[in-house]
Amino acid sequence: MKKWLTWVLALSLSLSASLLTAKEPTLKYGPWIQAVTETGFTVLLKTSVDVMAWVEVAPDDGTAFEAEPRQAYCQTVAGRRYCGRMHSIRVSGLEPGTTYRYRIYRQKLEDASNDNAVQYSAAKVVWANNTKTFRMRTFDASARTCKFTMVCDMHQKVDVYKSLLDGVKPDDFDFLLLNGDIVNATRNIDTSIKYTFEPVRHLSANMPVVFARGNHEGRGVDWYKTPEVFPTTTGEFYFTFRQGPCAFVVLDGGEDKPDADVEYAGHARYDAYRSRQLEWLKEAVKDPSFASAPYKICLIHIPALNDKDSWYTQKWLNAHFVPVLNEAGVCLMLSGHHHRYLYREKGDCGNGFPIVVNSNVDRLDVFAEEGKGLDLRFFNTKGEQIRTLHF
Ligand SMILES: [Fe+2]
Repeated sequence: MKKWLTWVLALSLSLSASLLTAKEPTLKYGPWIQAVTETGFTVLLKTSVDVMAWVEVAPDDGTAFEAEPRQAYCQTVAGRRYCGRMHSIRVSGLEPGTTYRYRIYRQKLEDASNDNAVQYSAAKVVWANNTKTFRMRTFDASARTCKFTMVCDMHQKVDVYKSLLDGVKPDDFDFLLLNGDIVNATRNIDTSIKYTFEPVRHLSANMPVVFARGNHEGRGVDWYKTPEVFPTTTGEFYFTFRQGPCAFVVLDGGEDKPDADVEYAGHARYDAYRSRQLEWLKEAVKDPSFASAPYKICLIHIPALNDKDSWYTQKWLNAHFVPVLNEAGVCLMLSGHHHRYLYREKGDCGNGFPIVVNSNVDRLDVFAEEGKGLDLRFFNTKGEQIRTLHF
């Protein structure tokens, strides 16, 4: 009898302990960084249960994070703090070209049954991969150089993705550029996050990540949630930014076939979308920060080619975007989409700039310095340099 009681007691204690553990919030995905400017960035993360999260920021000055109260940033919706699982926290008021440390905290939602007395747990720090503190550097238009690394068309091939970027460290580059089709389709938004950010979390939590949407990210039933994962400064998948001598315009070609194609089942309205984007582009390139840059670079998943066998969208982009980019003085277009390396010289198809298309199995590193031009270096999955270009 005594043994039996002991056994029941032990079982109930272990059950209640595991129930408590199960309820303990965990960091499901992230953090990852988006929408970086000279004075701010957005931290994103997904938690296992509903929490109120916030970010605290400290200078990277060697002091203990706990040395003093740190500036805290939280996500609000119409004046009330957000409590949920998909978090997007804007950090602002920073200095250009400066490295900061940040930590993420959370309070679990315990009881929301009384609207007038919602209860949250005590505050705790959120961590990932045994790392409590992350680092981030803001962009700097006055920097002497700009360096970034690009991959595209990973299509959920985690092995390729990891082997291209495992050896890269956040300090090696100003930003990581994901030039589209990192997933096959956004069937489930968690899948999109998992395949886009988790394989490169050592980078995506600690450096700016720039995302140029590929046509495949627009496929799948959860496609409409994609902007939540990749917030931008414009609220669209097209935007500009500046780092040192380089100004960038990121564009979104949408799908690659005509809107009426049977594959789209009547849901495509990309002509109208691209036309609105075109009007935005005409103004965006006049912005002094863009117009004054020594190097103006267009980042777009689908290259604006006009070959005999080019599909509809490429011809559309070539006819409509290229004249505006030419007029604006763009000096390079970087793309993916073809899953193989392609190079088009300036003037080849009405383009006033070279068009470089990266493959789906190589990484492209770009180094720019005012007065010295642009150096492009391609690396395969073994880390071997396979090609260079200079402009
Ligand atoms: Fe692709």
